[in-house]
Amino acid sequence: MCTQPDTQMLLPLWLLSLLLATGLPPILSAPTTQDVREQLLAQERMMRLGGQLVLSRTEELANAKLMALKSAEVERAASTSSFLPSMHFFQARHLMEQSQVFHILRRMPKGAALHLHDFGILNMDWLVKNVTYRPHCHFCVTPNGTFNFIFAHPDPPTPVPGKCSQWILLADHRRGLQNVTEFDHRLLQAFTLVTEDPEGTYKDQDAVWSKFETIFLTISGLVHYAPVFKDYVLQALLELHQDRVLYLELRAMLFPVYELDGSLHDRKWSVRTYKEMACQFMEQHPDFLGLKIIYSDHRFRSTSLVAQSVQAAMELRASFPRTVAGFDLVGREDTGRSLYYYREALGIPASHGFPLPYFFHAGETNWQGSPVDRNLLDALILNSTRIGHGFALTKHPAVWADLWKKGIPIEVCPISNQVLKLVADLRNHPAAVLMATGYPLVVSSDDPAVFGASGLSYDFYEAFMGIGGLEADLRTLKQLAINSIKYSALLPGERKAALHLWEQSWDTFIAELAGTSD
Ligand SMILES: *[C@@H]1O[C@H](CO)[C@@H](O)[C@H](O)[C@H]1NC(C)=O
Ligand SMILES: *[C@@H]1O[C@H](CO)[C@@H](O)[C@H](O)[C@H]1NC(C)=O
Ligand SMILES: *[C@@H]1O[C@H](CO)[C@@H](O)[C@H](O)[C@H]1NC(C)=O
Ligand SMILES: *[C@@H]1O[C@H](CO)[C@@H](O)[C@H](O)[C@H]1NC(C)=O
Ligand SMILES: [Zn+2]
Repeated sequence: MCTQPDTQMLLPLWLLSLLLATGLPPILSAPTTQDVREQLLAQERMMRLGGQLVLSRTEELANAKLMALKSAEVERAASTSSFLPSMHFFQARHLMEQSQVFHILRRMPKGAALHLHDFGILNMDWLVKNVTYRPHCHFCVTPNGTFNFIFAHPDPPTPVPGKCSQWILLADHRRGLQNVTEFDHRLLQAFTLVTEDPEGTYKDQDAVWSKFETIFLTISGLVHYAPVFKDYVLQALLELHQDRVLYLELRAMLFPVYELDGSLHDRKWSVRTYKEMACQFMEQHPDFLGLKIIYSDHRFRSTSLVAQSVQAAMELRASFPRTVAGFDLVGREDTGRSLYYYREALGIPASHGFPLPYFFHAGETNWQGSPVDRNLLDALILNSTRIGHGFALTKHPAVWADLWKKGIPIEVCPISNQVLKLVADLRNHPAAVLMATGYPLVVSSDDPAVFGASGLSYDFYEAFMGIGGLEADLRTLKQLAINSIKYSALLPGERKAALHLWEQSWDTFIAELAGTSD
């Protein structure tokens, strides 16, 4: 050991400038070790996400209450080895719902939800209890036991898809059952990943992704039926609004929506309907600011099909500039094609001088150095506005520094990453590093309904208690909420209104928490 030269750890420049920006007074004469410790701690406190926010007196009071509850909860968990962010969410959820910190997070105005997928956002119970009980709902079962659904009248179309059984009218089927509760429970299980034994049920990422993708195929015939499609949007907005989310950006595939007679609607109809439903909802809830669509295609398609989708995205953006925010490629990165593979198709908008904002999923992988791991590089090169997940970002210091310089945030979805088996204990989530350095990030929930969660609160709990560590406090939460508006695709005027609206509900929330409201 002594024969090796001492190499100085070189602080990356961006980190150094951040340190200097904290503006702490330098220690003048012969610092004691205690001074040095204090100064290091103070520096790190300033660097952390939200560390530069200055709280008002009322916020300080609220923070003290929140942090007392957090500490008590962590202590209890440590003494019983039941720290929720290190448990699988399926096992932690019920315990989380008893947590006082969680209840505060539920009430907290969380700002915008920026990473959600079209049909993963509304409690699947609603599909079972409401949608499958509607008239003219038929189903068939494939040899591997998965369901397909279709609404049709008078007769469902022939032939049935794939190797499915004959179409069966659900109402008839239920009438013939001994135990309808049991059947409905089976349906619900087919619509979510939730199980009591996640480790046993899903041995690896392949197993959990296989079921994950099957779920979207299974519910497709339900949610793409026009009347259900409309109600789904309204009902989902209600659920998010109740979770104190004021606006969302939805990655939507815009598959054809169908009517009872089998006629189909195109993508424009879907975008228009999203917009109309959001407006209808906002009339009844003036403290809600609606949604924007990020049109998304699958990263398994041929280059020519992706080129077509990119062109479709440009057309949609031209027709609905306030509603369509941009484009993304979705699906499992590890088995899908890389952004580099599609580089020509993705270059079409720039070559036409029609910039199409990108919101790429990138770095949702454990495989450092694989072609797909390079998606982060290409997301940067293709000028992505935000990065979905960015789970691998800390393994790419040059990309990390460049994205930071450009102010490109990542969308962290803790529960999704855990359920899809990228990380087991959320204290070890790589975003812990990013939060500690103050990298711009937002917290979102991806497909909460598929994971048995809802809204953003469960993911905020994981981020606040697990990823942020013991010292994450009200500043962290406030910064996350502010970030969600700051980094949204809202137009400048809309963003100002959103911030104003959020501040109002934040102040009310703080007064309640601090106990100073009357
Ligand atoms: C489903 O919910 C809608 C409102 O979203 C309601 O009008 C309808 O009656 C419900 N249908 C069933 C079968 O529960
Ligand atoms: C079940 O079969 C369908 C097609 O019939 C297929 O799309 C799906 O991936 C299969 N699911 C599983 C879990 O094997
Ligand atoms: C029906 O099934 C449910 C769930 O499997 C079970 O809890 C319930 O006891 C059953 N009811 C009857 C009447 O058998
Ligand atoms: C990204 O931005 C650079 C600089 O503005 C521009 O030259 C390039 O064409 C853009 N690339 C894409 C794919 O939009
Ligand atoms: Zn996603």
